[in-house]
Amino acid sequence: MNKPVADHLLRPAEPFADYHANQRQRLDAAGEGRAQDAGARVGISLPHESAVLHVTGTATYADDIPELAGTLHCALGTSPVAAGRLLGIDLDAVRAMPGVVRVITADDIPGVNDCGSALPDDPILCDGEIRFLGQPVFAVVARTRDAARRAAALAKQVLRVEAAEPVLTPRQAHAKGQYVVPPMHLLRSASGRDEAGIRAAIAAAPHRLTASLDVGGQEQFYLEGQISYAIPREGRGMHVHCSTQHPSEMQHLVAHALGVPSNAVLVECRRMGGGFGGKESQSAQFACIAAVAARLLNRPVKLRLDRDDDFLITGRRHGFWYEYDVGYDDEGRILGVTLQMVSHAGHSADLSAPVMTRAVCHFDNAYWLPEVAMHGYCGKTNTQSNTAFRGFGGPQGAIAIENILDSIARRLGRDALAVRRANFYGQHERNVTPYLQPVRDNIIHELVEQLQASSDYAARRAAVAAYNADSAVLKRGLALTPVKFGISFNVKHFNQAGALVHIYTDGSILVNHGGTEMGQGLNTKVAQVVAHELGVGFERVRCTATDTSKVANTSATAASTGADLNGKAAQDAARQLRERLAASVAARHGGQAADVRFANDQVHVGGKVLAFNTVISEAYLDRVQLWSDGFYATPGLSWDKDRMQGHPFYYFAYGAAVSEVVIDTLTGEWKLLRADILHDAGRSLNPAVDIGQVEGAFIQGMGWLTTEELVWHPKTGLLTTHAPSTYKIPTANDCPPVFNVKLFDGPNVEDSIHRSKAVGEPPLLLPFSVFFAIRDAISAAGGHQVDPPLSAPATSEAILRALAAVRQAA
Ligand code: MTE
Ligand code: MOS
Repeated sequence: MNKPVADHLLRPAEPFADYHANQRQRLDAAGEGRAQDAGARVGISLPHESAVLHVTGTATYADDIPELAGTLHCALGTSPVAAGRLLGIDLDAVRAMPGVVRVITADDIPGVNDCGSALPDDPILCDGEIRFLGQPVFAVVARTRDAARRAAALAKQVLRVEAAEPVLTPRQAHAKGQYVVPPMHLLRSASGRDEAGIRAAIAAAPHRLTASLDVGGQEQFYLEGQISYAIPREGRGMHVHCSTQHPSEMQHLVAHALGVPSNAVLVECRRMGGGFGGKESQSAQFACIAAVAARLLNRPVKLRLDRDDDFLITGRRHGFWYEYDVGYDDEGRILGVTLQMVSHAGHSADLSAPVMTRAVCHFDNAYWLPEVAMHGYCGKTNTQSNTAFRGFGGPQGAIAIENILDSIARRLGRDALAVRRANFYGQHERNVTPYLQPVRDNIIHELVEQLQASSDYAARRAAVAAYNADSAVLKRGLALTPVKFGISFNVKHFNQAGALVHIYTDGSILVNHGGTEMGQGLNTKVAQVVAHELGVGFERVRCTATDTSKVANTSATAASTGADLNGKAAQDAARQLRERLAASVAARHGGQAADVRFANDQVHVGGKVLAFNTVISEAYLDRVQLWSDGFYATPGLSWDKDRMQGHPFYYFAYGAAVSEVVIDTLTGEWKLLRADILHDAGRSLNPAVDIGQVEGAFIQGMGWLTTEELVWHPKTGLLTTHAPSTYKIPTANDCPPVFNVKLFDGPNVEDSIHRSKAVGEPPLLLPFSVFFAIRDAISAAGGHQVDPPLSAPATSEAILRALAAVRQAA
C-alpha cells in the first residue's frame, strides 16, 4: 500500500493523447466540435480520475482504510440446507473457539431484523425459517478475520435444523404459483383487441412460431467483494464504510437495524472495486450485521466476505424462462406475440419487481410490436435472492425478441438482418412502445446502416457461407444485433440528484455528489462538468467519497443514470457559483456580469483578463459564498405501474454490434474472431471512458451468454459453481483479435447533460450478436434447415447438444 509512484506513471499515457486527437477530429468532422472552444472540459478523452491509483495499487478500497485500534472482525455462519426450520444453535461450541468475542443471532438485533430494499421480506439473520443454502444464521465476531471464519465454519455442526424439500427452479416455482411479488401483465393491441383477440390474430397469421427459451443468470463477480467496516460514534452514532452503490439506502437500513434515526448513521463510500448492480441492495445485509456487531460491542467491526461466501450468500442476475407464441408474415414481420416470462427471483423480493418491469419494457428492443401480451412472474425459490446486474432485466427482455427474430429468419430462409430491419420501429409511424411511450429519437436505421457498411456485413456473410461450404468440422457464424435501451428509473421519484461544490480560497475545487464510483468513471465525468462550467483545468477539481452526511436522500447509482443525474446536479451548483463570481467580479472590475467569461483558468471581464485564483481570493474578501448546492430532477417522466403504461424513459440509447465466430463441431469450442460495434453515447462527455464502458460491457455480456454457468445441485440446492474454479468469467484472452469499437456521432435530442447519453448498461446487450453468431454457426452444421435449440449460456456442452439436435433433425 501507498508505495511511491514512479514518475512515468504519473504522466498521462500516450494512448489518451491519441484518443483525444481522434475524438476531436471525429467531432469536428461532424461539425459538433466547433461550438466548443479550446477550453472545453467535456467531450474530450481524459483518463479516469483514479487511473494512476488503480494501476499502482494505491487506490483506497474499504479494506485499505487503516484499521482503528480495537477493530474486530466478523464472519457468517450459514445454513447448510436450502429449506426448513431452524430448531436451535449450540452457540457455546462457537463461543469456545479461539479468538471469538461474541456470537450474534437474530435476537440480538436492537432494531428490525430486515434489510429488504423493496419489501420488508429479507431477514438480516435467520428468523427461524430457512430460506436457502448459504443463508446467514449467526455472525461471529472475533479478534482476527481468520478466527472469525474458523468459528463460523462450525455452522454445519452447531445448527439444528429440520430440512424441507426446496423449490429450486423458476419452473417449479411457477408450477406451485409461488412468486415474490404479484404477476405483471402488459397488453397492447394497435387494433384494440383483448388477449383472446391477439391469440386469434396470431393463429390467423401466415406463419406461426411457438417455442420456449432458457437464459441463465450471472454472477456480478466484482473484483472487490462485499465489505462493510462499522465504527461506533458517540451517542447512538454509527459510521459505516461500505462498498455500495446505494449509500442512502444503507443508511436507512442500518438505522432500522439499530433502531436509531437516520441522522445517527453516516455511510461513506470512496469507490467500489466494481458493483455491476450487485451492491445496489445486497450490500445492506453486511452493513447491517457489521453495524449491529459494532453497536453491541462498542468496537469497530469489519465484515469482508470471502469469495465463496459472497457467491453463496448474495444474489445475482435473474435467470429467465420464456414461452412465446408469435404470428408473422412472409417478410418476417411480427403481427402478434404473446410472451410469458418467469424469472428466478430467489427467496425474497429484493429488486425482482423492477427487474421484471424493465424486462417487460425491453422485450420490444428496437422493434414495433403491433399486438402484444406479456406476463411476467417472479418465481420464488429456495436460492439466493436475485438482484440487479448491469441491464437490470433489460437484457433478459430483449434477448427473447432477438431469439424470436432469429428463428423467424431461419424458418423463412431469409437473412436475419433483413428480418430484424423489417421489424424496426419507424420514424413517425409504427413507433409506439408496448407501454405506450412513443420512440421519438429513433436512430437505429442510420446506426445499423453505418455499422453494416463499416463492418462489411454483406461481403462477410458471403465469405462465411463460402467458408462453411468447404469446412466440415469448423463452422463460422455471423450476426448483427441492435440495441435500444430506455434511460431513467421506471420509479419516477428515483430520478433526482444533488451535489455540493466548494471552491477554496486557493482556487481548488471539491465536489461531492450523490452518485458512487465503481470504476465507471462517474467522478471523472462530474469533475469534467464542473471544470467546464467554471472554465478551469480538470486537475483543479477533486471529487470526494460519497457521504450521506453531505448529500441527503440520494438514489442508487444505477440504471446508468449516474452521470445524467449527478452531472446535472453538479452543473447546477457550479452555475450558481459562476453567476455569483461573475456578479462580484463585474462589481469590482466594471462591466456586465452577463459578459464575464470563464475559460482556461482565466476570467475575462470588461476587457481585463484575471487569473481564476485572483477572482476567488477577491470574491472571498468581498464575502461571496464560495460553495453551493445543486439539484436535478429528470423532467417529463410518468409511470403507472398497475397498467404498465406511461413515459418511463427520458430517452433511449442505441447501439449495434456485428460478431463473427468459429465453432468446432467436434468439441463445442468456439472463438470470437471479430466484433464491430457502433454505440450511441450521444455527445460523449468522455469518449475514452465511454469506449471503455462499451468494451467492458460487451465482454461482460458475452460471458453471461457463453461461459458463465450457474449450477445448483438439483436436490440439495447448493450452488456448486461458487468460485472461479467452477465459474468461468471472460479474461483478456477472450477479447476478439479484431475489436472495432466506435461511438455513433450525434447529440441526444433531449436536454441531457451536455447532450450526452448514459452508457453504463446499454452496451451489455451488444454481445447478443455473439450468441446469435454461435447459433448461426450451429445452424450451418445442419445446412440452415433447423432452428438450433440453443439455450444461454452457450457453453461448449450446450453447443454440442444443439449440434446433436440439429444433425438429428436435418
Ligand atoms: N463499470 C465498471 N467499471 N464497474 C461497474 O461496477 N457498473 C455498471 C456500469 N458500468 C459498473 C460499470 C452498472 S450496473 C451501472 S447501472 C452503471 O455503470 C452505473 O454507473 P453510471 O450510472 O454512472 O453509468
Ligand atoms: Mo446497474 S444493474 O443499474 O446497478
